[in-house]
Amino acid sequence: MGNLRIIKGDITTCQVDAIVNAANTSLLGGGGVDGAIHRAAGPELLEECRTLNGAVTGEAKITKGYRLPAHFVIHTPGPIWQGGSKGEAGLLADCYRNSLALAEANGCRTVAFPSISTGVYRFPIEQAARIAVREIRSFLNEARVVEEVTMVLFNEEVKAIYDAAAAESAADLAEK
Ligand code: APR
Repeated sequence: MGNLRIIKGDITTCQVDAIVNAANTSLLGGGGVDGAIHRAAGPELLEECRTLNGAVTGEAKITKGYRLPAHFVIHTPGPIWQGGSKGEAGLLADCYRNSLALAEANGCRTVAFPSISTGVYRFPIEQAARIAVREIRSFLNEARVVEEVTMVLFNEEVKAIYDAAAAESAADLAEK
């Protein structure tokens, strides 16, 4: 079974097969981690993104990584938080599931995620962390190609929330 790691860092420096970008539905860049990834990858990334014709929330599309250390970038628009009754939790789960399926299909052994939707899109971090850990762990149970998934958090506070979610999920599994 593959391994879930949780670290503090800048996802644009990760030496992995694929990094995931918390994009918007245009896939044409933006602020936050999206902006950081485009700046680090260089202009060819946007040129390739222009050929993708956008993506719906929860969908994932893959491009090359260009000047990034990562070989691929997987772009997924997360849900914008609207109070929790518009299917946001399911759409966030789709982001993780579809990104991991795309990584598997493209031969990626190692994948790194940012904390999707918890910045500009204001998804409550505690709930987002539980969804991320649950989806990554259930994927790793079945994965044949992906061996390691890293959650890359931008600060200690967010990392502590993901660490707690991972510990909680491990405890749940132990009880079963
Ligand atoms: N590495 C890792 N994590 C990062 C980095 C980085 N270099 N830069 C920012 N983050 C973190 C933020 O601190 C936050 O915890 O990524 C998380 C996601 O925040 P956003 O980037 O705001 O993404 P999101 O909430 O999904 O909003 C997406 O913002 O940037 C625009 O184009 C993007 O419209 C889209 C929206």
